[in-house]
Amino acid sequence: MNSSAFLPKKVKIVEVGPRDGLQNEKEFVAHEIKISLIDQLSSAGFSNIEAAAFVSPKWVPQMAGGEIVMAGIRRYPGTIYSVLVPNLQGFEMALEASADEIVIFGAASETFSQKNINCSIAESIERFVPVAKAAIDHGMRVRGSISCALGCPYEGHIDPARVAVLVQRMADLGCVEIDIADTIGVGTPNKVKAVFECLRQILPITTFSGHFHDTYGQSLANIYAAMELGVSIFHSSVAGLGGCPYAKGATGNVATEDVLYLLDGLGVETGIDFEKVVRSGEFISKALNRPNGSKAGKAYLAKNASQA
Ligand code: HMG
Ligand code: MG
Repeated sequence: MNSSAFLPKKVKIVEVGPRDGLQNEKEFVAHEIKISLIDQLSSAGFSNIEAAAFVSPKWVPQMAGGEIVMAGIRRYPGTIYSVLVPNLQGFEMALEASADEIVIFGAASETFSQKNINCSIAESIERFVPVAKAAIDHGMRVRGSISCALGCPYEGHIDPARVAVLVQRMADLGCVEIDIADTIGVGTPNKVKAVFECLRQILPITTFSGHFHDTYGQSLANIYAAMELGVSIFHSSVAGLGGCPYAKGATGNVATEDVLYLLDGLGVETGIDFEKVVRSGEFISKALNRPNGSKAGKAYLAKNASQA
């Protein structure tokens, strides 16, 4: 623990920009751009990058060609390259692509489950059983992701007990890490604490990650609150890219640069090169022709430009 406060000494940041950040882009982003972005992020020192999603291209066209991206990136030793997998068809592609980790993704809300993966929560678990088993048999890491853990665009408030049920199921499937996702960014620190207080009765707190979208601007406060309870894995997206195709109006994940700035200020280690992340954030914002969504990234670039 960090001595200045009851915070973890080290935090793992899972960079989800290449997947969650790009999946909602309307214009198809060229494979070379995705590959270059991932390579830049790898060189910045991330130990885990969500690189692709092997989902139906009819559902999420932007993620088509994940196998080309996976084949084109430079793998850094020790870095986990994860891919989303909704079913066995996706798993076969993940295996072919030599992904290090698959992410099975469910939801704590029935309506969101139907909208996102076209089945009920119970059906999704049934579908994940052979997927998780096959992955484990092949020596792949399995991570679980739980959408709408802090609120649902269709059902509103979600009781932590509903998240807990899914956490238990995912643990039974062999998930070694479980993402608690605020898909629409409605959570506030007390809600975040309530859900993690509940979940730490089931599994060690270090099993969980916080995957916070920043729709209401609460993510940094939520990360701090989660760290106070011992959560030490967080997801973020370079330049704050993103949104979910099945959660209208939801914006991107919290910007990686902003999280790095916060953690550095708190003396929490990440092992990631802030400046390289800022440069990759600028690269992808320019490639997409959109404003950079990271406050820390923009401030750093502006300061450097004024000193040049
Ligand atoms: P379905 O339509 O019920 O599936 O969709 P299906 O089995 O009937 O297949 C339909 C077509 O898709 C078929 O093609 C299949 O071959 C193809 P056709 O015969 O019509 O030509 N197909 C596939 N193609 C490639 N890879 C696959 C695959 N599976 C089927 N794996 C399904 C069910 C689950 C496939 C669909 O609903 C789906 O792909 N959903 C994914 C949606 C998604 O990716 N959402 C965003 C990611 S989740 C997220 O962002 C949340 C997260 O960030 C956490 C948070 O913030 O909350 C993780
Ligand atoms: Mg997400």
